[in-house]
Amino acid sequence: MISDPHEAEFQALIDSDQRIEPRDWMPDGYRRSLIRQIAQHAHSEIIGMQPEGNWITRAPSLRRKAILMAKVQDEAGHGLYLYCAAETLGVDRAELIDLLHQGRQKYSSIFNYPTLTWADVGAIGWLVDGAAITNQIPLCRCSFGPYARAMVRVCKEESFHQRQGFESLYALSHGTPEQHEMAQDAVNRWWWPSVEMLGPPDTESTHSAQSMAWGIKRFSNDELRQRFVDMVAPQAVVLGLTPPDPELRWNEDRGHYDFGEPDFEELRRVVSGDGPCNRQRAAHHLAAHDEGAWVRAAAAAYAAKHPATSAAA
Ligand code: 3HC
Repeated sequence: MISDPHEAEFQALIDSDQRIEPRDWMPDGYRRSLIRQIAQHAHSEIIGMQPEGNWITRAPSLRRKAILMAKVQDEAGHGLYLYCAAETLGVDRAELIDLLHQGRQKYSSIFNYPTLTWADVGAIGWLVDGAAITNQIPLCRCSFGPYARAMVRVCKEESFHQRQGFESLYALSHGTPEQHEMAQDAVNRWWWPSVEMLGPPDTESTHSAQSMAWGIKRFSNDELRQRFVDMVAPQAVVLGLTPPDPELRWNEDRGHYDFGEPDFEELRRVVSGDGPCNRQRAAHHLAAHDEGAWVRAAAAAYAAKHPATSAAA
């Protein structure tokens, strides 16, 4: 029995699967958990521009370049919607970016891997965006309204991203033997980090139980991991590429694919800052932020001047 009327009202909204809006009362823990998750998600979208941005100048054709530029710009847009959603919880975007720079907030492990060949761009679209959508579609039903609404648009764009990755890898896989080998090598390197990016196993997930009780998360990390493998395993067959998991096979009894144990020790290492590109990604983000200081100052000066200009007009 909840005695606090605010809490009872909040719980009633959660229980009836309605949305919590920014002006509604919410427990401090709910607010903190959302800020943590949404900020981490926003940082991931922005830092996620780096590995693929690396290939914009070297895309193999004008068509591929145009697609990649649109995709990387989409990621910037996703970051912005997400920072706006976080701001409705009473934090400032600048504050969140400072926390990222101080190492007090995280971004997704997956963006700490290098993009060594053009095929990596296809593998990121197919696998990384595939894992991201698997995680994000249920977030469209997240109990916090602004986050759920941002996710609807993000997911539409992410599904285009996954399709383009699949199509790009398909072209390589069915191209010359060298192109096929390059596609297979990219899948060998991106498969496990993509399976791992869905988070630690349920037994080690610190936030899942509470986040699920609050309707922030709808499925556990392991449930989403299974969904992801079930989606991409048959797609690999169409691509003509072999996932680097000898234990991957359809299990008729379970109605799901069985798969090998991900290397969660590697996930822990990468999350704690010791992945192949953590230092490079963080340094690049910081440098880009510093170099953009004049743009922020100019935008703020324009905004301050603008009302006077409009009043005079
Ligand atoms: N990378 C970095 N940190 C991770 C992680 C990962 N792959 N998986 C888990 N963690 C962190 C958690 O943030 C938490 O650390 P914290 O307490 O310091 O915040 C800790 O590991 C324990 O994990 P939990 O399972 O308890 O954490 P959650 O319940 O928050 O679940 C999550 C993790 C599934 C990533 C969840 O936060 C989530 O759904 N986030 C929103 C989606 C998101 O951020 N996706 C990132 C990729 S975005 C993307 O790929 C963009 C694209 O365009 C491709």
